[in-house]
Amino acid sequence: MPDYDYYKEALKNVTKPCAFLNLDVLAENIHDITGKSNNKKIRIASKSIRSVAVLKTILNASPVFQGIMCFTADEAVYLNGHGFDDLLIAYPVWDTYHLKQIAKLRRDNHIITVMIDSIEHIDRLEKAAKAEHCTFLVCIDIDLSSDFFGLHFGVHRSPIKTLEHAMAIINRATGSNYLQIDGVMGYEAQIAGVTDNDPNQKAKNNVIRFLKRKSSAELIKKRDMIIKAIKRKGISLRFVNGGGTGSLHQTSRETEVTEVTVGSGFFNPGLFDYYQAFKRQPAVGFAIEITRIPTSHIYTCSGGGYIASGATGHDKQPHVYLPEGAKLIANEGAGEVQTPIYYAGKIQLTHGDPIIMRHSKAGELCERFHYLHLIQNGRIIGKYTTYRGDNQCFL
Ligand SMILES: Cc1ncc(COP(=O)(O)O)c(C=O)c1O
Repeated sequence: MPDYDYYKEALKNVTKPCAFLNLDVLAENIHDITGKSNNKKIRIASKSIRSVAVLKTILNASPVFQGIMCFTADEAVYLNGHGFDDLLIAYPVWDTYHLKQIAKLRRDNHIITVMIDSIEHIDRLEKAAKAEHCTFLVCIDIDLSSDFFGLHFGVHRSPIKTLEHAMAIINRATGSNYLQIDGVMGYEAQIAGVTDNDPNQKAKNNVIRFLKRKSSAELIKKRDMIIKAIKRKGISLRFVNGGGTGSLHQTSRETEVTEVTVGSGFFNPGLFDYYQAFKRQPAVGFAIEITRIPTSHIYTCSGGGYIASGATGHDKQPHVYLPEGAKLIANEGAGEVQTPIYYAGKIQLTHGDPIIMRHSKAGELCERFHYLHLIQNGRIIGKYTTYRGDNQCFL
């Protein structure tokens, strides 16, 4: 396992702060993920990667990988321009300009699929398709959250919560001359995106594991029932998408699911250490440099304040990775332009030495850096641009 000296040596000639991608670890993570796919396809969640070159590296690594789950229309169009096809935009598109862009690709027969969950979405797409002389491929997003004891366990996204509601949307879409049903998606965020092995919250882990078991039983039944009902109507679906990194091991076992989405598992950011079902090494991280030593055991570095999105908490701060035992200081955290690190271990740290950090989430780090410096066998062998490095900013 790469240690502090490994990264210090590998990154010694790279200007800090810098982000890196360890290609050897990425290969291990890809291997582990394909091994858990249970003969299902894996769609890559681009929001958790945010680099064209990395997306291509993963897609080319195995035939198990098929298609990209995009996060905006602009991004899907951008990826199409780089030769990607089978682009599923996982979140509804409303903007007229964006719908026009997608229509243009649809007229050229590209596989670019938009998400719907309501009659309002269907009306909007029909109007745009009529004006732009195209048909849209649509995917229906079904809600797979659970409500237990007055607690909402899951996310607030699709209003489609019942079989009847799903069939009403399906019937309306099948009756349209402007839409073609391409697939169904259900994202069980409460399983895939909720940590259940956080060492800082041992009692809560048990509650979450209990809720996950209960919710899984419910959602598996619900997805199965809805997909079977759609099939009984004679509608053929190109794909049934589910899951994420945190649920790959179980979503890939569902008979009606044809593909599972995975994004974060490739980089394995800080938050993904806290799952019971898998253990992976971090393939991506960043290095900040010690620029001042205000007192003994405190090493203040330039940069570092890259906080992750979502409900805020200690777990959304960057994680100090190496040297082992180094940590953030509660009063200051990771700062806007400087980050003090507490370290009282055996390694002699001095000005100019790096502190190796990890972002809490996967793709968001790439919005802070132009490049991912590529490390293989302990040496820098090149660099990949991120979306930011390509001068792109989607969300
Ligand atoms: C619709 C959808 N599917 C899948 C995922 C899983 O992505 P990851 O594997 O990066 O956790 C997400 C993440 O938020 C999502 O929104």
